[in-house]
Amino acid sequence: MSKKILLTGGLGYIGSHTAVSLIESGYDVVILDNLSNSRKDVLEKLKKITKVMPKFYFGDARDEGLLIEILKQNVEAVIHFAGYKSVYDSIKSPIEYYDNNLNCLIRLIDAMNKTGCRNLVFSSSATVYGIENISPLIENMNMGTCTNPYGRSKQMTEEILKDITVSNPEFSAIALRYFNPVGAHPSGLIGEIPRGVPNNLMPYISGVASGKYEVLNIYGNDYDTRDGTCIRDFIHVCDLADGHVKAIEYALKNNGFDAINLGSGNGYSVLEIVKAFESTNNIKINKKFSERRAGDIAISYADIKKANQILNWGPRYGIEDICRDTWNFEKMMFQDERV
Ligand code: UD1
Repeated sequence: MSKKILLTGGLGYIGSHTAVSLIESGYDVVILDNLSNSRKDVLEKLKKITKVMPKFYFGDARDEGLLIEILKQNVEAVIHFAGYKSVYDSIKSPIEYYDNNLNCLIRLIDAMNKTGCRNLVFSSSATVYGIENISPLIENMNMGTCTNPYGRSKQMTEEILKDITVSNPEFSAIALRYFNPVGAHPSGLIGEIPRGVPNNLMPYISGVASGKYEVLNIYGNDYDTRDGTCIRDFIHVCDLADGHVKAIEYALKNNGFDAINLGSGNGYSVLEIVKAFESTNNIKINKKFSERRAGDIAISYADIKKANQILNWGPRYGIEDICRDTWNFEKMMFQDERV
């Protein structure tokens, strides 16, 4: 019988791609999602891609009764994606962020303890390295200073997970530290659907390409980098999804806490990404330089040896695949919206 994995927030951007990878690897996927930043029609898209419709529960990950009901059905592991992720909103509404991001986790662990499920993979972020650590960022560095509640909620979650594995040595918790997830499933059926105007770079570039936005603002061209724009580590969301499958395999066999970077291990500047998007898709991106954005650091990219060694994971997709799949998804979404 295939192993059952619960994905909280499984209809979101990274959750939905992970659902595909898990199903294709033979797992039985159950999704809990409150649709606060996702759409129910993603379920149909998952079925189109995998020929399997995952079991879906509409609900909040703070609902412990519901969590217990789901976990009781022989769930072997949980991947906890459910959480808010906007840096900007977290500064405006810190209590909402701490309530959602921390209480979901606490209720989930309580429900896991009550039902005997001991394997957890958590969506962490490179943001936990803070502003002082120098790239390449390595897991054994101390977490640094975060400039916002979103980042601090990720740091606090990692600390809580460490405490859990100390109090219960049979518990397995893996915090996957995502760098910059981008791209979309090559089918164009699932991808990132930002609510309102996106804050992140890639959805903004594709929005300019499709004419939704007039011009891309490049935040700062006076950083101490090769072309003056910030450097980031862009990782294809399908590679990221495969990393979750590997993390589940590892969690099922090992105990304790591990933080693991999921990135490409390479840094690209904002200008390089824009150029790659233009040349891959043969399309011009209207852009202008503007002021630096508060809280941005000049350079962030991962050391990915740990993921390589302990998960036997590495990226398969390159920057051109990322640009092609992002644009492909944007065009499909555009068609959908016009129907
Ligand atoms: C951001 C968050 C990070 C979070 C991640 C989730 C901040 C400071 N950091 O990462 O905590 O984990 O998203 O995906 O918000 N840029 C432009 N023009 C744009 C948008 C972005 O020039 O319209 C630049 C930014 O200044 C940055 C780079 O593109 O240098 C990447 O930005 P973004 O995609 O927002 O990711 P991060 O800031 O790295």
